Amino acid sequence: NEKNQVNENSKNEQLEQFLVEDEGKALTTNQGLKMSEDEFSLKAGERGPTLMEDFHFREKLTHFDHERIPERVVHARGFAAHGFFELYESMKDFTRAKFLQDPSVKTPVFVRFSTVNGARGSSDTVRDARGFATKFYTEEGNYDLVGNNIPVFFIQDAIKFPDLVHSFKPEPDNDIPQASTAHDTFWDFVANNQESAHMIMWIMSDRAIPRSFRMMEGFGVHTFRFVNDQGKAHFVKFHWKPKLGVHSLVWDESHKLAGIDPDFHRNDLWNAIENGFFPEYELGVQLLREEDEFKLGVDILDATKIWPEEIVPVKIIGKMTLNRNVDNFFAETEQAAFHLGNVVPGVDFTNDPLLQGRLFSYLDTQLIRLGGPNFHEIPINRPVVPFHNNQRDGYHRQTINKGKVNYHRNSLAGNTPSPVPPEKGGYESYQEKVEGRKIRARSDSFKDHFSQATLFWNSMSDVEKRHIIEAFQFELAKVKSESVKQQVVDMFANVNLELARSIAEYIGVNPPASGGSNVTTSSPALSQLNTVFSPET
Ligand code: HEM
Repeated sequence: NEKNQVNENSKNEQLEQFLVEDEGKALTTNQGLKMSEDEFSLKAGERGPTLMEDFHFREKLTHFDHERIPERVVHARGFAAHGFFELYESMKDFTRAKFLQDPSVKTPVFVRFSTVNGARGSSDTVRDARGFATKFYTEEGNYDLVGNNIPVFFIQDAIKFPDLVHSFKPEPDNDIPQASTAHDTFWDFVANNQESAHMIMWIMSDRAIPRSFRMMEGFGVHTFRFVNDQGKAHFVKFHWKPKLGVHSLVWDESHKLAGIDPDFHRNDLWNAIENGFFPEYELGVQLLREEDEFKLGVDILDATKIWPEEIVPVKIIGKMTLNRNVDNFFAETEQAAFHLGNVVPGVDFTNDPLLQGRLFSYLDTQLIRLGGPNFHEIPINRPVVPFHNNQRDGYHRQTINKGKVNYHRNSLAGNTPSPVPPEKGGYESYQEKVEGRKIRARSDSFKDHFSQATLFWNSMSDVEKRHIIEAFQFELAKVKSESVKQQVVDMFANVNLELARSIAEYIGVNPPASGGSNVTTSSPALSQLNTVFSPET
């Protein structure tokens, strides 16, 4: 059946083919052999050794011995649900993506929320960013929007990602501390990689201790591209906005919950869906004309910066509803493979150097995590539309491709599977004009680490500011190195002097003498910016 018709139930129907009901059934081996015994291994006499020939015993133990796969190198702890996405109005003017054309089409989705730092068995309510990864099973193949609940990131270039993650994961000598940023190496990284300032302000804020996955925003973070059927492109940033609003725990609650109920967020999501309180998130886009690329006052390729929403408003274009829990955590949630390289026609990338590195890293890590090149065949990862190409073989291959032709170009199979021209739905990369010398450098805007961090601080209420100060105090009080503490205090004096002084006093290092007033908000070009959607919309 080669139909490309997709509706909200398409993925559920596909997964049903793989469901197995064990209850009430006879016990068999993996070969389908009914077994008469599952408690006593085969022995040579009542008190004799267990026999090698006991295939059932060996099979049972061998399977058990191999039941663990590597946890994700980051975002190891997560929880997911099924649902669907519906569009409010056609985005045809901006993108040719089929799932964004017709408001009557409902697209199945699978969403995984996660913490970033902790191991698979860590607590839900720790201070951390949260992952918000969505797989849209569209009629043009899978589209993955792999975001976080914070709109910016720690670093600007993927080459630093291993350094960042090494610094916040448990220290290599003793694996302490787990699931915490309150330690020397993390803050040493922060102080010596000051592009992290903006993200750290969010991490120290209440955004990093969400009350519920149902009450969290999501952000694509990077600048992506929409391309319409005329080949015209717009820059786009993605936002998820929870219908229940954004709510955080207070810190004391988050600490207690981490002990009392380490599964607090997964319980909350599971129970809400089981009881019919389906979480809903609206999808918003910020759109920027190509000709306005340099008018925002910040380099739009810098993932440590947001686009001010009062200048480039968020236009709400649709809604996602999560309405079904998984049947099996491992088969679905744990084996799900999100990758922002999974795009559909009408969505493309930009040269954000963080985004570019991610395009390599996800597939690369999944090749080892999911055991080779055929993990797209795992039920949760399969597109709901058919796939055909000349790939064969590899570990765990399930598809049985017929015929002897497995190469392109050919005459024996009429030169099929055949490439599809863009006007008929084939993916074509956006023909961006690129020129330059091979250098390891970025625009000057990438060097401004503090303007938006300061704006974030200035936008906080008094209570929120107090929470941020207390978070810094708590985290830094656990740092052992006096030098690292002093460097961090001096660094955050560039965001706000009072903030830095409050931290310094609490943790007993020298108060910074000067700092602050780093805001360079307005750019002369801003007045020439003719926004796609007026700020009132
Ligand atoms: C997971 C790499 C930045 C969001 C992962 C994984 C890797 C990775 C290797 C594990 C994937 C797996 O095992 O399936 C990177 C690199 C980054 C980067 C190299 C920067 C250079 C980001 C950013 C965001 C993000 C900026 C948010 C916009 C996520 C999410 C997951 C994830 C949500 C979990 C996906 C899931 O639920 O399975 N990342 N990441 N990452 N990353 Fe990143």
